[in-house]
Amino acid sequence: MPNIKRIGVLTSGGDAPGMNAAIRAVVRTGIYNGLEVYGIYKGYQGLIQGLIEPMGSRSVSNIIQRGGTILKTARSEEFRTPEGRKKAYDNLVKHGIDAMIVIGGDGTFTGASIFQNEFNFPIVGLPGTIDNDLYGTDYTIGYDTAVNTVVEAVDKIRDTADSHDRLFIIEVMGRDAGFIALRSGIATGAEKILIPESPTYINELIEKLRKDYSNNKTSGIIIVSEGDDFGGAFEVAKVIKEQCPQYESRVTILGHVQRGGSPSAFDRVMASAMGFQAVLALKDGVRGVMVGSINRKVSYTPFEKAIKHHQTISMELLEIAEVLST
Ligand code: F6P
Repeated sequence: MPNIKRIGVLTSGGDAPGMNAAIRAVVRTGIYNGLEVYGIYKGYQGLIQGLIEPMGSRSVSNIIQRGGTILKTARSEEFRTPEGRKKAYDNLVKHGIDAMIVIGGDGTFTGASIFQNEFNFPIVGLPGTIDNDLYGTDYTIGYDTAVNTVVEAVDKIRDTADSHDRLFIIEVMGRDAGFIALRSGIATGAEKILIPESPTYINELIEKLRKDYSNNKTSGIIIVSEGDDFGGAFEVAKVIKEQCPQYESRVTILGHVQRGGSPSAFDRVMASAMGFQAVLALKDGVRGVMVGSINRKVSYTPFEKAIKHHQTISMELLEIAEVLST
């Protein structure tokens, strides 16, 4: 059993609703288990700059319902360099921190993997990203809330689409993954969902729209994932305008509204459980893994695997969406 007495916790990369619930769980589980817990502000960048402070149970009061991250976050270029990582390591040693819990996505675990190999430093990760693109967990912290935010927004847009007989092309986040698009598209009854995991054949889309229009479908919603191979919502809208002028169309980019807001109950509970498990894992000598949840069971996935093997999207869901949008 490793002799871990003091742990650090940080959030890194894009913020995600539920990160605060995870921080709260880490702090309180740590203290409950006799550990000292330090908060590292602004992710790896803050670690390099020495933005490190002790946390107590009261430091995480009243945050479970809050979006964003009280520890703040950043995408650090300096941490990509050996010099930056050495400064970070020196700060951990200076503060007597024996192990770290990092909450974030792809970039966070890439950094964690390099860092722990370089300095033989124990790190456990928690999946915190709205994109849901990490291998080794069914859901990432923030994904459920982001999908619900999109659904709420699209429902509102649907009112206008219907009232004005318009076609809305709505772009959602997900960098290079279509999870948010697919789930929100099904939940809102979108006429078409365009995701990076499946090639977009624009001619098929045009054909479908013409058919829909002749079947009295005079309004509609197309959800486009920002990473779709054809391009973003504006590119899709341009072709529709040219080839389907019968539709009056509009583009909406939902953007960062998807990253904020109070986390859903699902995200709060999952983040709490994962934060709890991450501390226990560190105490048990587990390191170099992301704590996830597969079929409602705790799972450990090595950082390298979580990053490299992208979570696979359900093509069956895409098929369901196609059938239900006719
Ligand atoms: O990874 C989360 C995410 O919101 C992606 O969906 C998106 O592509 C990216 O972050 C945007 O990053 P930023 O906030 O740095 O512009």
